[in-house]
Formats: sequence, structure tokens, C-alpha cells
Amino acid sequence: MGCPKEFSIKGGMGAALLTQPGNVEKILTALVSELKVPVTCKIRVLPELEATLELARLIQSTGVSALAVHGRTKTERSRDPNRDSYIKAVAEALTIPVIANGGSRALKTRLDIESFRHSTMASSVMVARAAQWNCSVFRREGPLPYREVMLSYLRYAFEYDNNEINTKYCVLQILHDKMTEAPEADRCLTAKSLQDFAEIWSMEEEYSNILMKRKEKERQILHMAGGDFAGVKKQKLDGGLTLFELPVRFDKRCYSPTMTPKQILNNWSKNEHIGKPIYTTEERPTDRCFHSTIHLGDHVYTNPYWEKSKQLSEQSAAICCLIINGQDDSRLSDPGNESDQLRRKWRTAVISPSFGTSGENGEKLKDSTAEKIASGENGKAIEGSSAESVPASGKSTNTRDTDGMCDQPKNQVTADGSIRENVLFAQKKSDTFQEDPDVASSACKEKIDS
Ligand SMILES: Cc1cc2nc3c(=O)[nH]c(=O)nc-3n(C[C@H](O)[C@H](O)[C@H](O)COP(=O)(O)O)c2cc1C
Repeated sequence: MGCPKEFSIKGGMGAALLTQPGNVEKILTALVSELKVPVTCKIRVLPELEATLELARLIQSTGVSALAVHGRTKTERSRDPNRDSYIKAVAEALTIPVIANGGSRALKTRLDIESFRHSTMASSVMVARAAQWNCSVFRREGPLPYREVMLSYLRYAFEYDNNEINTKYCVLQILHDKMTEAPEADRCLTAKSLQDFAEIWSMEEEYSNILMKRKEKERQILHMAGGDFAGVKKQKLDGGLTLFELPVRFDKRCYSPTMTPKQILNNWSKNEHIGKPIYTTEERPTDRCFHSTIHLGDHVYTNPYWEKSKQLSEQSAAICCLIINGQDDSRLSDPGNESDQLRRKWRTAVISPSFGTSGENGEKLKDSTAEKIASGENGKAIEGSSAESVPASGKSTNTRDTDGMCDQPKNQVTADGSIRENVLFAQKKSDTFQEDPDVASSACKEKIDS
């Protein structure tokens, strides 16, 4: 019950509850009786000490295990002094543990934290901003210099590929009172990527090593999951169609927002007069994830993944179509499991006449949307998004705005690393690989045209 933001107050939440004791009692009583874990509560103080104590006693009576008190009122901001004396009065009045909060501006060391606890008679301290400014504030030996903290923080951000916006927020928090003294500060204000931060803080080599190790690890994982050709397949379908499937996935961070794979594919197919790509999307009822195929000429293009939105799954199918047709999909960078070399390998392999014609490669797919298209069944398949959509007999997709992806490829990897169900293996590499990209590209065009 501490959030003073307008959206909370207007909705009767956060600090708005401080003046609604009836609701406070009902909410906390319900939580305490229904939950198996200890329930704790946090408040801001009220302008009057007596009213604050009354509220604190009411909260205690609901059975909560501890109460955190931020020593500012709903209208006071962080520049206003923290009312430590109110926290102390609450701590003296209650029998449950009281957690002191709001003292960050005075908390530079662990000793400061201890003295805040002591002066407020609280059982413990809650630290927010001081820990953002320098997370080593808790260190027994004393806090580390901000530069050391920054480098250490960035190492984690690089290692875990932290989102750049959040990274920037954290970096600026560490710099909060060093903006004039730190020579890197101005550049941090305009930084847009982890690479920018690596350059600003002279960590390019470390970042590049981390990226290399990550790529290597991803390759190893891919290898364990069936080698370079897990998720790659080609299959003759009824009706003279050929299905191509590549383990490609649309990661919007790798593309320009103004030129998506679908747009590129539309432009290319129009220029080449090969008709419009017809998208067919299937929605899986269990989790409302989507899987798209593209029908273009005599070919059907897809990937093995189910995505959280129709848009994502259509973009992924478009990438497959562009790669197989030797077209640049205008990506700005590669997602984790792909590389230009790998895509060339896939393309070269699948256009080879021997790929997908016998043995494991020639197995019939089970439950393939593409097969349904070919046979005209198209049961669960749903609306296409081009003007020449495949007629939909099932229910329509509702495109959702989420960017997340469902991580369940249709193919399954068994414990011994082999692939069952829908995954079809490449034949011996020597049979199928043409490493030269130009040879691959022209061979691809030829095969597909023919
Ligand atoms: C980034 C950030 C997020 C916060 N989110 C919450 C929150 O979700 N709920 C809450 O009660 N207080 C939240 N607070 C407020 C803090 O818990 C705390 O009450 C306030 O920052 C004062 O403590 P300090 O002086 O140690 O920063 C947040 C503070 C920060 C800086």
C-alpha cells in the first residue's frame, strides 16, 4: 500500500488504500486465511502519527507476519525527508517485525543500514534505491567503487543478454550522482545497445568473447538436437506440391521494423511474376499458438515452431520461403541458432534432388498442415493473409500482440539425440552439401524453377 502513482490511486489501489481501513482489513484477512505462505504488508505513513499507528495496529490484527513502513506520506516525494520517527513509533507500538524503509539517500554503507535500523528500532531494513545506485552497499568490507560495480554489472548484462532498455536504466542508476564526474556518462545517455555499452566501458573484447561462447554453446545444443539439420526437411506432397521446412524463426530484433520478411517476399514474388504468397495459419487450441505455411507456386514453405501470434508465425514462414529461394531476407543480424553459413547449407541441401526422396528423408509427415493443404482437407487451417487466401473452413485466428514465442517445435528430440516424428535427416553431408554460396544460390533457383 505504498504506490502513490496516479493509476494506482485512481484505481483505489496502492497508497489509496491507506485511507480505506475497511478494505485493508478485508484484503489482508482474506490473504492470511487463504495463503499457506506468510503474508507481509507495506505502507506509507499517514500525515498524522496517531492515524499511522491506528492503521498499523489494524494491519497487525489481520494476522500478517511483518509490516514494512516507508516513512513518507502519499504526497511526499523522495527528496522530502523520511519520517524515521514515525517508523520508530510504529516499531514500538507493534509486536510483529517492522521493516524500516525510505532511507536510501543516507545509506552508503552497511553500517548506515545498520544505524537506520537501530535508530528506527525496526527489526530490519528494506533498501531500494541505494541498492540500485551501488548494490555493494550491503558488503561487510565496505562498498566497491562505482566503476567496479558498473563493470561487474555489465558483465552480467552481457552474459545473460539483458534487455538493452533495462540495462540502460540500471547503468544510469549506478551513475546517478556521477553524471558530471564520470567521463562515460554522456555516452551512456545515448547508448542503444549492449555493444554500445561494451564500447563505452572498454569491454569490447569481453563482450565479443561472451558472444562467441554463446554462439558456440548454441551450436552445441543444436548439434545435440540432431546436428545442423534438425528441423530441416523436404517432402513431396499430394497434388505435385513440395514442402520445405527450415528451423528458422522470426526474431524481430534481427530485422528492420520498416522491412519485414513478409514485405520482402511480397515484393520479390511480385517482381518475379510468380504469384502471391498464400498464407495458411493453424491455431493450436490447447495453447492458442500458431503455425503458418506459405503456398507459392508448386511449393509450400514452413518452419517447425509454434508461435504466440499469427504475425510471428507468418513472418517465420516468409523467412523460410526467402531462404529457399535464395533471397536475402534483409536481416540486420542473426538470431542465436542461425548463421549465414548454416542457412546456405540448409538451402543447398534441400534443393538437392536426393534430399527428402528416400529413407528417413522420405517419411510421410504426420499431422502436417501442408499435407492438408495439398489434399484440400485443410481442417483446422485458418485464414490466409494474402488476397488469394486458401478458403478457411476452421475458425479464424485472432492475431495477438504478444511477441513471445512458444518453444515447442513440432519435432521431438529423443534422449539419445535422434529425432522422431516429423524430423527428417539430411543424407550424408558429402551427398548434399555445396558450400559455395553462389553455386548454392543459382542451383537453388534452378531446382525450384524446374
Ligand atoms: C524501481 C523501483 C520500483 C519500485 N516498485 C515498488 C513496488 O512495486 N511496490 C512498492 O510498494 N514500492 C515500490 N518501490 C518503492 C520502494 O519500495 C521504496 O518504498 C522507496 O524507493 C523508498 O525506499 P528507498 O529510500 O530505499 O528507495 C519501488 C522503488 C523503485 C526505485
